[in-house]
Amino acid sequence: MGDPTDYPSFAGGRVTVKVGDITQEAVDAVVNAANGTLMGGGGVDGAIHRAGGPAIMEECRNIRATRYPDGLPTGGAVITTAGRMPARHVIHTVGPVYGSGGPDRAEELARCYRNSLEIAAEEGLAKVAFPAISTGIYGYPMEEAAAVSSLAIQEALRSFPSIEEVRLVFFLSRDAEVFVRHQAFDAR
Ligand code: APR
Repeated sequence: MGDPTDYPSFAGGRVTVKVGDITQEAVDAVVNAANGTLMGGGGVDGAIHRAGGPAIMEECRNIRATRYPDGLPTGGAVITTAGRMPARHVIHTVGPVYGSGGPDRAEELARCYRNSLEIAAEEGLAKVAFPAISTGIYGYPMEEAAAVSSLAIQEALRSFPSIEEVRLVFFLSRDAEVFVRHQAFDAR
């Protein structure tokens, strides 16, 4: 796993990049790349439910039974406990499926980051870790996702000064490298 000092930080040091397993991050919230059912899946969704345990699924079921009977829409975000993980919360968000072809898939991806950070700010959470949403099973190319997510994060950090750190956790070092090469954070 890469050392945190391997990669540059962005947004005045408020955005950090590392390689690792997001379920091990001791932050206020880890973001889950979920699907609309909130009933779990593979990838990071599977890893989070496995590491956090049944308490997460219990809260997801309650959210489905009350606020989102038809499922969480793409770009939406909800918060639950993180169960047994070192993090305190999980913010579940649903990324766009790249192949769906919709012209607004970039906007949908941006909404995942914006809405997740809005919930974090509302809940007074200072440190939030993100996986690379939609870049796995949902097929979003990392280089395109890097440009979209970095701009969305930068804009959200300007709106939510209470957020101290957005930690971008990549499972593979090559993904971290592609992100750093294609991010669009303002140099200023
Ligand atoms: N820690 C950090 N990143 C991870 C981890 C982990 N433990 N496991 C996977 N990843 C990375 C993948 O390498 C990828 O870059 O998370 C990114 C997102 O990949 P997916 O988990 O496949 O998520 P996504 O592409 O958004 O697809 C969502 O997959 O698991 C299902 O239920 C989920 O249907 C939904 C779909």
